[in-house]
Amino acid sequence: MQGGVCRGCQLFLTLVLLLCPSLPVRGLRYRQYLHFQVLSPGDIQYIFTATPAKDFGGIFNQRYDQIHLVPADPLEACGELNNGAFIQGEIALVERGGCSFLSKTRVIQEHGGLAVIIADNASDNDSRYVDMINDNSGRTVDIPALFLLGRDGYMIQRSLEQHGLPWAIISIPVNISSIPTFELKQPPWTYW
Ligand SMILES: *[C@@H]1O[C@H](CO)[C@@H](O)[C@H](O)[C@H]1NC(C)=O
Ligand SMILES: *[C@@H]1O[C@H](CO)[C@@H](O)[C@H](O)[C@H]1NC(C)=O
Ligand SMILES: *[C@@H]1O[C@H](CO)[C@@H](O)[C@H](O)[C@H]1NC(C)=O
Repeated sequence: MQGGVCRGCQLFLTLVLLLCPSLPVRGLRYRQYLHFQVLSPGDIQYIFTATPAKDFGGIFNQRYDQIHLVPADPLEACGELNNGAFIQGEIALVERGGCSFLSKTRVIQEHGGLAVIIADNASDNDSRYVDMINDNSGRTVDIPALFLLGRDGYMIQRSLEQHGLPWAIISIPVNISSIPTFELKQPPWTYW
């Protein structure tokens, strides 16, 4: 299933649903969202919207106010990592493709990562949320796995490359209903 609703609309819908819990959800294509905020580098200081895997991985039991988001090397994270030491105790950013979502999540878990954010491999796509499901291998994984739009993943990686930084600093998860609307800075490359 692929989302055709613009992300701003989805965020708005999430807000409406949070503010009006009695609103009937039936009939709406409701998807679960989890938000994180990039604190550094400054040029991508926005609130990003990700979707948790449907049927594998864990949930966030706590909020991380300042944690590293480290692009895996290699980015597809299908095997041994060159920068595994940086991922220990942090969150990894990986790219879709090459192996299953579950395999990537397991690789990050094996390197001591606390969660994984898997960006779509369509770097120009700012609307397609892919539902991440397990690969029927019978394997399991404990850490949370989130899907991120290709465009967002690309913009984060590009900013890090431009600054020569090995990681971004993020807060995750972020409760958007506790943030005043005027401070809800969404990436400007997506439509509201
Ligand atoms: C993206 O990943 C999917 C799933 O592995 C694959 O089918 C597709 O060919 C990849 N696309 C690109 C552009 O690499
Ligand atoms: C994003 O992916 C969706 C679903 O595959 C597709 O319909 C849409 O055209 C893509 N958008 C871009 C900008 O590539
Ligand atoms: C999110 O923030 C709102 C408003 O401050 C609060 O009522 C709600 O309990 C919070 N939700 C969570 C899951 O912390």
